[in-house]
Parts: sequence; C-alpha cells; structure tokens
Amino acid sequence: MTIAPTPAAPRAGWRTPSPASADVSAYLDLERGVLDRRIWKDEALYQQELRRVFAPSWLFLAHESQLPKPGDFVTAYMGEDPVIAVRGKDRRVRVFLNTCRHRGMRLCRADAGSTKKFTCSYHGWAYDLDGSLVNVPNPDAYPDHFDTADWGLREVARVDSHKGLVFATWNPAAPALTEALGDMAWYMDAFLDRDPEGTEVVGGVTKWVLEGNWKLAAEQFASDWYHVNMAHASALMVMSPTGRGPKSEIANTPGRQFTSPEGHGAGFPVHPRSRFDDQTVHGYYDYDQLRGRLGDARVEGPMTTGHATVFPNFSYLPVNGTIRVWNPKGPDRMEVWTWTLVDRSMPEDVKQAQRLYNLRTFGPSGIFEQDDGENWSEIQAVSRGFIANDTRLNYQMGLGIHRDDDPDYPGRVGELYSDNAARGFYGRWRDLMNTPAWHENPEASHG
Ligand code: FES
Ligand SMILES: [Fe+2]
Repeated sequence: MTIAPTPAAPRAGWRTPSPASADVSAYLDLERGVLDRRIWKDEALYQQELRRVFAPSWLFLAHESQLPKPGDFVTAYMGEDPVIAVRGKDRRVRVFLNTCRHRGMRLCRADAGSTKKFTCSYHGWAYDLDGSLVNVPNPDAYPDHFDTADWGLREVARVDSHKGLVFATWNPAAPALTEALGDMAWYMDAFLDRDPEGTEVVGGVTKWVLEGNWKLAAEQFASDWYHVNMAHASALMVMSPTGRGPKSEIANTPGRQFTSPEGHGAGFPVHPRSRFDDQTVHGYYDYDQLRGRLGDARVEGPMTTGHATVFPNFSYLPVNGTIRVWNPKGPDRMEVWTWTLVDRSMPEDVKQAQRLYNLRTFGPSGIFEQDDGENWSEIQAVSRGFIANDTRLNYQMGLGIHRDDDPDYPGRVGELYSDNAARGFYGRWRDLMNTPAWHENPEASHG
C-alpha cells in the first residue's frame, strides 16, 4: 500500500473563472428616464446579478425574535444560496451556507426550529452550532490527513442587525450595515422604533411564488405610490372608512419620496387625509407620545403609511406591519417571504388584529397583494416577446425634481408621485452590475 504525501488543507472555496460580465449601461438611461425591460428576463444578466448584486450586498434574513435561545435557527436565502441562521451557545447569531461539505446535500431541511447540531440526512455528517464538523460515520475509512477542521460549514462573512432585523453579507469588505443603510435607517426607525421595547414578528413566515422578476416588486415598493389609486381602486373602496372610494381620498395626496445612493427608497403621504390602518391598531397608539419619541415629521409621514425598499430585496409597509423579501428564483420568478412585525408592548389582541389585517390586505390572497402580483406577472409575460424587448419604458416622473435640504426629511427627497427612487434603485443596480465584486479580485480570500 502506498501512502500519499499530505496535501495542503483545502479552503472552503476556490477561484473559478468568472463568466464574462456585461456592461449594463446600455440597458438604462437614467438621466433621461428610459429603461430596457430585458433586465427583467435575460438569464445571463440574472447570473451576473447573483454574482455582483446579491453576493456583495447586505441581505435581510430574519427577525431576532425568531432566534431567542441558543440552538434556535431559521433557514433563508441569500440570492439563490440557501443559508441557516442559528444562535450559538455563546448567543451569537452565525449564518452558514446550507449545504453539507460531503456531497452537497441541503443540510437543514426545516424552515425553523431548535437543535443541538445539524446532521445531514444523506450519510450522517454532523455539524455543531458554530459550523464545525463534529461527527463523520466510518471515520477509519478516511486517510490520515483527513481533518474534520478542514470541512466545517461555509460561514457568511458578516452578520449584523438593525433594530431587531438581522442582515448578512458574503462580502468581507462590505461597509458596516449602518453605513450601508445610510439615511434609510431614519425612515426605517419610524416603523421599527415606535416602541421602547422594540418589535417582534408574529404568526410565522408566509411564502408564495410569483411569476415575475424580483426587481419589479423591489422597485415598486421603493418608488411607486402612483399605482395605488388605479391598481388598488377596488381594494380602496372596500377599505375606505367613508365608503366614498379612492379618488376623493388618495388622488393627488401630497407627500414625499426618499431616494438614496445606496439604492434604497421610501414614499409616504404627509398629513394623510385618510386612514387605511386597522382600527384596533390605530386605537392602540398614543400619537402625542409618538410625536415626542419620533418627531412630527415621522408621525405625519412614514410611521403609519407609505412603502419602502431596502436595496436590494427587502421591503416593508408600516400600515400593516408586513416585512418581506423578494427571493429571486430565476429571471422570471420570485418567491415572496413575508412576516408580520408588531411592537412588543402591544397587547395580544392588538398584535393579532395587525396580523389578520396584514393577511387580509397583503397576504398571498390579500386584496391589495393580488393586484400587485397580477401586474408583475403580466409585465413578465409581455417581456417574453421579441418586439416587446425592443420597446423602451418610461421612468421620467419627477425627473430633476428633488432636494437634498428638506427641513423635515433627511437625504434626497422629492414629491410622492415620482420615479426618483426607482431611478435610484436601478442606478445602484447598474453600478453594482458594472463593478467586479470582491470574489472577482485575485487577492480576495475565499474563506
Ligand atoms: S452529503 Fe451530507 S453526509 Fe453525505
Ligand atoms: Fe401595490
């Protein structure tokens, strides 16, 4: 029998030649507000997105209230990469690629739970909560230089949280989460910081699949109050407290839209003339107290209504507490994951009222959600056409109308009815798509 020399310990990843990346500038003319819909359906661009948009960005994974104790875990996606987020014995949340290092089986197949270790269902390799390989069946069959220390789970480079929301990125050189959020954090806190006790999620995660590119949804939640009056006309009639329907209450509502260099966006009526929040939840809040805590501008704007996207694919609506991720599943499909966020101090009946209101309005069969899904699926279906893809689209609303010194609202702010945040979203997308990511750098570590 010959004994081979001991090879160097393998790394978790190694350099594979990066496929050619396209310059996407030709698909968007954001200075003139024109967009090419091929960015929603092209397979090669989609693969480039996974490499250059999803891999380097901070991505939302879970709410801390889903992981209260050591051993608690949830599974999620970062782009199309499945991951496990687990609270360790040291109480730290770590995130691992959800794949066994032996033959690549999906290691954890549960949505959520609590465990002492993760055991692969194929051959039985088992991993501790810190990702180390702790059990290999038939260990004597392996050569002497086989070392379990070399075969731990692949760990996500950075994990951080903002007011209970857990984000992670594969990019070891990513800016800190606070820096990546920038001015967006001020708008998010109008929703996340109403209660000194913070927030939690109730009722589990609701998931469904939609035929449509993930950017259609992310862009709309960043930038589009414009569709509310038309796309949601029937829902607004049902919800209207006066029964007079949408035109008198929503059309020409004054408000603001925020856009940022990081690609985030939010829009909201200011001093809304009509309410579409749940009566029980509305009755729970002490608005004078909230003014003291968050300031008038936030209470009269982004605290109760409007829409928002944290680039690239995390969105929320303060009105019903929905927080959501548009998980990409190929260029023409997304898997929507939604949670209901509530304030921790709310009595149980108020939390449940918000959960039910969220399901009624923006659950998979919610009266608003269906309108949005229908529009995105039809846009995607039209995008299959040859001539359709040679026909450019209009993103010119609010072009050139914004200010960086609004006395009430930080960052770049324009009118509520505007495509500013959509152009900001696609501008950030274009810049990331045109910039080699850290893993394309020959000096980068692959962990
Ligand atoms: S694939 Fe996991 S133990 Fe074999
Ligand atoms: Fe909508």
